[in-house]
Amino acid sequence: MANDTNTTSGDPGPHGSTAHGRELIYATAGTAGRVLALGGLQTMGWNLRRAPDARSVQRILQRDPRQPFAALLDLREGFSHQDLAEYGPALSASNAGWVAGVDAAQLDDPPVRRLIRDYCYDYVTLPCPEAVLNTVIGHAHGMAALACERGVAVSQVGFDDMIGDSPAMLALCRTLRKAALTEAPVFIAGETGTGKELAAMAVHRHSRRHANPFVAINCGAIPQNLVQSELFGYERGAFTGAQTRKLGRFEVANGGTLFLDEIGDLPLESQASLLRFLQEGCFERLGGHEQIRVDVRIISATHHDLEDSVAKGSFRADLFHRLCVLRLHQPPLRDRGADIDKLADYALKRYSQEGQRTLKGFAPCARHALHSHRWPGNVRELINRVRQAVVMAEGRLITAADLHIDGAETGPPPTLDEVRDAATREAIERALQRNRGRLVDTARELGVSRVTLYRLMGRHGLRESDPDSGGTVSVA
Ligand SMILES: Nc1ncnc2c1ncn2[C@@H]1O[C@H](COP(=O)(O)OP(=O)(O)OP(=O)(O)O)[C@@H](O)[C@H]1O
Ligand SMILES: [Mg+2]
Repeated sequence: MANDTNTTSGDPGPHGSTAHGRELIYATAGTAGRVLALGGLQTMGWNLRRAPDARSVQRILQRDPRQPFAALLDLREGFSHQDLAEYGPALSASNAGWVAGVDAAQLDDPPVRRLIRDYCYDYVTLPCPEAVLNTVIGHAHGMAALACERGVAVSQVGFDDMIGDSPAMLALCRTLRKAALTEAPVFIAGETGTGKELAAMAVHRHSRRHANPFVAINCGAIPQNLVQSELFGYERGAFTGAQTRKLGRFEVANGGTLFLDEIGDLPLESQASLLRFLQEGCFERLGGHEQIRVDVRIISATHHDLEDSVAKGSFRADLFHRLCVLRLHQPPLRDRGADIDKLADYALKRYSQEGQRTLKGFAPCARHALHSHRWPGNVRELINRVRQAVVMAEGRLITAADLHIDGAETGPPPTLDEVRDAATREAIERALQRNRGRLVDTARELGVSRVTLYRLMGRHGLRESDPDSGGTVSVA
């Protein structure tokens, strides 16, 4: 029996994977016959493992059942019915999202049809463009991640310092990973304190630009008349007081990423310059005529409704479309379920270490308060409340009063729509887990069409947006 071969390079990360990238198993029957090269997928960030038989696949999957895998089963050559039977357990593993690769003619073969219908998230006719394969196995991987055991921190399946593994965060992390692999401008929407800057940094750190600068600027915090010079720099003598040439943030960020926070506050003059940079890749310093060319990726964010600003005429529509090539939504904390506890525990541990006191944790009333509060300031508010409670708590357990959350502060009771939304979302999540992410079966179980299921998954943050399709969704 042949061994599975890990063709990945780099340091092993958690669960035996490399620190970056997702795991892909390429499963065949033996090593002879037509085998896909798949080198392009590795450069797209996949850690590729070749498996010449069912037992090799099983070994990989069992090494850590909490690690999600995409698995491509190349059925084109050499698969006997015995081979197919042996693949049963591997195909049923909950941490693998399977995609079948077939010759078009094989779709008439009943056992192949059955295998695809019963076990695979999708199929492709091979050979097919690697970009297509990347998208399909990306979705299969996402579904496997969804079905993986709960309680896995996002740092293990997701991204960087971002804590949380709620479906909304897992979907976001999958999209962030994809965004990191492209060069397209990213726009991050989300309420204040939800972690937009953290997400922008994560995209930068996982991109090919990671060794170059990440430069952040808050467009709303700089006086309007200074924004232009801050961004694009100025020449000596450009205005009274300009004693020397000064480089702007664009030049400082050369080779790296420029994060434009509160982009909605950018004055119209700077909007025009930014648009020109996005179209032509160059700009002029204030008081200068030289065309300066830099290689900078733009990530922008705002907690305001930018579409509304476009409608009101305070933000250019053409710039809006240039910035929003990939659009991400940072979910509000109140929609992240058990992530609230994980973030609170994290903050407690972090700030307890600062002081001399040993706190044992949160009292039940505090846990209840954490979940009933509406968190208008999101993660930032949570961290600040816990930090303050660590200092002020008199007992060994933090109470609701220490967090300054009481019944009156917990906001209005949920509306009927909110209750209905929460129930719908939970039902979909559970059905997806039961059906190991297979949409057809999940839709059938829930009594809706596949299209409706897809739409609902989108609305409830249970699937990622697709960078290749310009930000909004995908999949047939
Ligand atoms: N998932 C997370 N895990 C750990 N810390 C987080 C997470 N999300 C946010 N934070 C922390 O919460 C604080 C606010 O995050 P950040 O500044 O990225 O939010 P923001 O969306 O940019 O807010 P604003 O709109 O006010 O600029 C930071 O201290 C950040 O480290
Ligand atoms: Mg911010």
